[in-house]
Amino acid sequence: MNIREEFPMLDKNIIYFDNGATTFKPKMVIDSICDYYTNYCSNAHRGDYNISLKTDMMYEGARKKIKDLINSSRAEEIIFTSGTTESINMVIESFFKNILKENDEILLTKSEHASNLLPWFELCKKINCKVKYIELDSDYKVTMGNVISAINENTKVISLAHITNVVGDIRPIKEICEYAHSKGIYVIVDGAQSVPHMKVDVTDLDVDFLAFSAHKMCGPTGIGVLYGKYDLLNEMTPYKLGGGMNASFSSNGEIEYKSLPHRLEAGTPNIAGAIGMGAAADYLKVLDLDKIREYELKLREYLVRKLKEIDNIEVYNENSESGIVAFNIKNVFSQDTAIFLNDYNICVRAGNHCAKILKEELEIKNTCRISLYFYNTKEEIDKLISVLRNSDTLYQQIL
Ligand code: ALA
Repeated sequence: MNIREEFPMLDKNIIYFDNGATTFKPKMVIDSICDYYTNYCSNAHRGDYNISLKTDMMYEGARKKIKDLINSSRAEEIIFTSGTTESINMVIESFFKNILKENDEILLTKSEHASNLLPWFELCKKINCKVKYIELDSDYKVTMGNVISAINENTKVISLAHITNVVGDIRPIKEICEYAHSKGIYVIVDGAQSVPHMKVDVTDLDVDFLAFSAHKMCGPTGIGVLYGKYDLLNEMTPYKLGGGMNASFSSNGEIEYKSLPHRLEAGTPNIAGAIGMGAAADYLKVLDLDKIREYELKLREYLVRKLKEIDNIEVYNENSESGIVAFNIKNVFSQDTAIFLNDYNICVRAGNHCAKILKEELEIKNTCRISLYFYNTKEEIDKLISVLRNSDTLYQQIL
């Protein structure tokens, strides 16, 4: 069967180029969620009857699938959260708030997403630690040289996207971890834009923490993962307290927590979400993330080449290595371009894409972003290019 036929949303006469925001879901993922609600709807870890035991098996089975997807060494290292944003907030609040001190430094870049900036800004207000930015090169990329020169004796954490959501550059995470660890520095990786598009092996990379979301990898919204090395997760103070995470408690306020991963998953979890995320991991495994990466790279090269053939198009990240391409039609506000493309049923994202301090580097506030996935085609790109070639009507509309 043609892959595209597995996605009900691809049967709606639209060209979808906003996969960095969220991806479409294959039928097997949608079916796995319906199956849970239709055939064994029950809570997890609380029932002694068959449907609940099945729910336990499916929920913990999903954890195991995610463990395999990112090659972590233990299923207990996979904590289900509501998504990348919660994962990053959790690790800052439950781990770094406890260990960082005044004047300790956190290294970020100006191309990070808000979810990897704002929680650090808030932490700095609370404990007087400091955010520093790694300088980007002329292609807005992170080089090892710039990482090394940003590090000093106060550096305690480096927190970076693996692939950034506007520039789409891939960071040298393995080399960064190796160097950082030799200096006793922790590395957190925002994998929201990488885990869905390439093999991410936490054991090989040796990251301390990795955050990612299901909905950008063919899974449902509202579920994601915080991966952490077991000993580090074990040091975390639970971010949320309540049912499911305690082994016992008494009226004097003493609480005995459960062991990992449950001590970090208070309350009824997003069971349907986890099952759907597990199905998405199965789906990507069959497609093979190496092949997905290879296909997206070819599609990207084709897209960039075609965009550059149009005189009034400016591409901002020609030398990046992912399926993310940021561009503008010269002298046109990015949102006007997105609305113009929408007239032809072409979906792109326009604006600052939650990377609101990137403008200090890129010197442009808003861009149109095309973010490709494995179900996009050259024919879709050709359609986009022919619409952009005829953007004179757009100039007429806005002048
Ligand atoms: N973080 C998502 C994006 O880049 C929403 O579009």
